[in-house]
Amino acid sequence: MKMINISFVYCKFLLVFVFVSPHVNILVSGKKDIEQIQDESRLYSEEVTREFFDESEEHVTVEQIKAQQLFENAQELLNRTRSNEYEAYMLLDKAAELGHVEAQLKVAWARILGKHLKQNVSIAENLFEKLANEGNPEAQMGLGFMYATGIGKNSSQAKALVHYMFGALGGSQWAQMALAYRYWSGISVASSCETALTYYRKVSQKVAEEVSLTGGRAVQRIRLLDEVGLGQLHYQGGRGVELDHERALNYFIQAAEAGNANAMAFLGKMYMEGSPAVKQDNETAFKYFKKAADLNNAVGQSGLGLMYLHGRGVEQDYDQALKYFSLAAKQAWVDGQLQLGNMYFAGLGVRRDYKMAIKYFNLASQSGHILAFYNLAQMQASGTGMIRSCHTSVELFKNVAERGKWGELLMEAHSLYWNGRHTESLATYMLLAELGYEVAQSNAAFILDRHDIDILSKEESYARALMYWGRAASQGYAVARVKLGDYHYYGFGTDVDYETAAAHYRLASEQQHNAQAMFNLGYMHEQGLGLKQDIHLAKRFYDMAAEASTDAQVPVALALAKLGFLFIFKYFEEVCCVCVSCFFFFKHYLEL
Ligand SMILES: *[C@@H]1O[C@H](CO)[C@@H](O)[C@H](O)[C@H]1NC(C)=O
Ligand SMILES: *[C@@H]1O[C@H](CO)[C@@H](O)[C@H](O)[C@H]1NC(C)=O
Ligand SMILES: *[C@@H]1O[C@H](CO)[C@@H](O)[C@H](O)[C@H]1NC(C)=O
Ligand SMILES: *[C@@H]1O[C@H](CO)[C@@H](O)[C@H](O)[C@H]1NC(C)=O
Repeated sequence: MKMINISFVYCKFLLVFVFVSPHVNILVSGKKDIEQIQDESRLYSEEVTREFFDESEEHVTVEQIKAQQLFENAQELLNRTRSNEYEAYMLLDKAAELGHVEAQLKVAWARILGKHLKQNVSIAENLFEKLANEGNPEAQMGLGFMYATGIGKNSSQAKALVHYMFGALGGSQWAQMALAYRYWSGISVASSCETALTYYRKVSQKVAEEVSLTGGRAVQRIRLLDEVGLGQLHYQGGRGVELDHERALNYFIQAAEAGNANAMAFLGKMYMEGSPAVKQDNETAFKYFKKAADLNNAVGQSGLGLMYLHGRGVEQDYDQALKYFSLAAKQAWVDGQLQLGNMYFAGLGVRRDYKMAIKYFNLASQSGHILAFYNLAQMQASGTGMIRSCHTSVELFKNVAERGKWGELLMEAHSLYWNGRHTESLATYMLLAELGYEVAQSNAAFILDRHDIDILSKEESYARALMYWGRAASQGYAVARVKLGDYHYYGFGTDVDYETAAAHYRLASEQQHNAQAMFNLGYMHEQGLGLKQDIHLAKRFYDMAAEASTDAQVPVALALAKLGFLFIFKYFEEVCCVCVSCFFFFKHYLEL
């Protein structure tokens, strides 16, 4: 059984490889590099596959039962909002030692990131290796991460690629994202928009499903915090507030009795979804939504629309649904906009109209609604109601995928950093950087640039920072582009190369109007470094920098003052300084 599965995966894997022959334009890696990586990958994947077949079956033991119990206890601790993560991970560690697979996976990630458990790369490595040999896709992702970043392994992009492939085909969403990003940016594979689209779409679908189930909570939290903040926090949980449905219910009921329409709408939501505190009840949900909607509350109108749309607690009625979604959308309520878009898209209660659907999805996407991005991405991918664009579709799907629950790791990395735990923070940013987050790439580069990381020499740190700045710059972050210029200018992690530095500054200056880049170009023209020495051009770039940013005005003024001397000097040099004394006069003046 197991063998059939694995060989299936293997075949698909090879197919993918044949499919990916280079020819498309190559953004980052050279064609030679990619071919070499492909060859290495092929050999390595054969080796890994052979290891799969060597695994023998196991049988259930008392230890496994004990491990399962420990795992469940830990899970329960982790499920509470104000959870005791330290204690939970102690239990997980024990369960892992007894051979519990899910516990081993959690422990492996905790060990490699230094999160919840002390960082210990060799423990992580052993666990990932063992689990990957058993065909665990998340462990394949873990190994891919180790090879990609060189944490605990000699880095090898070929091997990273193989493990990401196995992970992605086995259903690891992180591996799918990592691969999608590599194909999107052409990192160690020939770039392919279509392949990136396939993988990003897979991940996005899961993220969108999850959002549909939980109702896009983050968006609502922002809007409603002021009015029913406390109940809202108890209902959905939040920093330092325990998930407490009982209390949430009490807050909402009190507020609703006092006439608060938002509270009525949220009671409707609680009854519609059902929770530990209230039994799911369509009629009561309808009643509360109706009360709120009658007070012209947009959340209530949108909720009522849903009840009519799905015929819950009321006869299904598309006309009524359309009416209430329109009312909510008119008040710029994002859920109303999204649902209205859906109705136009599907032609429910109204003639199908893609233009209108796009209009409402666009509106909802402006408030950052993930499902709006998702729907637009699907339309772009299939060319529905618009000209198909793989590029735009990938950008939208990427955005959706990056808002999966793993996005929380960004916050964690950030707080690790401010707690002075730079190495652990870096590890988490590196993971997210692999998944394609531009912010994580920039932050990883920043940490490598600013701090001594015990496990890396300064030279190694710069080389890696250079890589991350490069990836962030390719994603359009101007500051990273300037940094890339700086690294070539000063020879950090690479040879000093003024021409390349100037090329990066020019990109940042022309495409993103970055004042620092303009200033640097001015300086390079002034000094004739990597660019033709040209005082007039230098002055023009300095002026542009001052115009682009008020921050640049003081340094520009200083630079121009210096340039002023050069102007006089040049003038006399060109016009009258046949006379040598003149030359020395001005030279002397300059040195003052
Ligand atoms: C904890 O939550 C997960 C899903 O989030 C669920 O599958 C699991 O059953 C819960 N475990 C316990 C012990 O509550
Ligand atoms: C990691 O764990 C192993 C096994 O428990 C231990 O021998 C080793 O010293 C640890 N390494 C570090 C750096 O703590
Ligand atoms: C990593 O590379 C070094 C130098 O090439 C080699 O000595 C070492 O054995 C390698 N380590 C692993 C784990 O392959
Ligand atoms: C509420 O309506 C939904 C959709 O029609 C249905 O699946 C669900 O069972 C209903 N809930 C109750 C408690 O009857």
